[in-house]
Amino acid sequence: MSKNIQVSASILSSDFTHLADEIRKIESSGADMVHVDVMDGHFVPPITIGSIIVKAIRPLTKLPIDSHLMVMNPWSQIDDFIKAGSDIISIHVECYGDLRPACRKEGAFPKEVDAIDTDRILVDIKKIKSAGRKAYVVLNPGTPLCIDQILRDIDGVLIMSVNPGFANQKFMPEVMPKIRDLRLKFKGPIMVDGGVKEDTAPVIVKAGADQLVSASYFFGAKEPAQVVQYMHGLA
Ligand code: DX5
Ligand code: ZN
Repeated sequence: MSKNIQVSASILSSDFTHLADEIRKIESSGADMVHVDVMDGHFVPPITIGSIIVKAIRPLTKLPIDSHLMVMNPWSQIDDFIKAGSDIISIHVECYGDLRPACRKEGAFPKEVDAIDTDRILVDIKKIKSAGRKAYVVLNPGTPLCIDQILRDIDGVLIMSVNPGFANQKFMPEVMPKIRDLRLKFKGPIMVDGGVKEDTAPVIVKAGADQLVSASYFFGAKEPAQVVQYMHGLA
């Protein structure tokens, strides 16, 4: 059985002094999407970029822009990302449940929950979808598959395979059962983010993922087109 594997290239590892060239590099490599890692210094330690960057790159590419919101309060950002032109908006489920005690303190990472408030997350999912954009939900490595109730309402799931915050971390194999379990009950796209490299990509795809995010592997390659070709070929 073959399926289409898509690649979302993350500008987190790009050269921000030449962002327009980096977007062109993503386009010419044959990648399928541009992944924008938005970090607020609260949900994850670093502060990176926001909707103004999506707005700036929007006219430069026809590729879908996939905005990954690693922020404590996604609901206050969604409108701006819609206006800026994001095609996919990915919101972390950890923002919609009681954080585990160990990660409640300011500066304690990663954020993890055991269950979510379905009504609250559905408000934001509907907001994204009613603007004609795709709503994905994201799960940190330590957060279990607590999204059964909303599987019908979402366009995709992003499974973190590293604790979010930084590029070039090591893939966490303990998330593999989560990808497999999700594949059994969810027909839509499963995107995997973190530590996707030459050796990990095949196992991730075999577990059932169809979209791969890549920052350091893509931008560290001499020939990003070969990286994309390789990942496309894993179908
Ligand atoms: C991590 C980000 C990822 C990151 C992936 O917090 O969400 O998108 O850029 O980086 P690599 O591909 O280098 O693991
Ligand atoms: Zn990401």
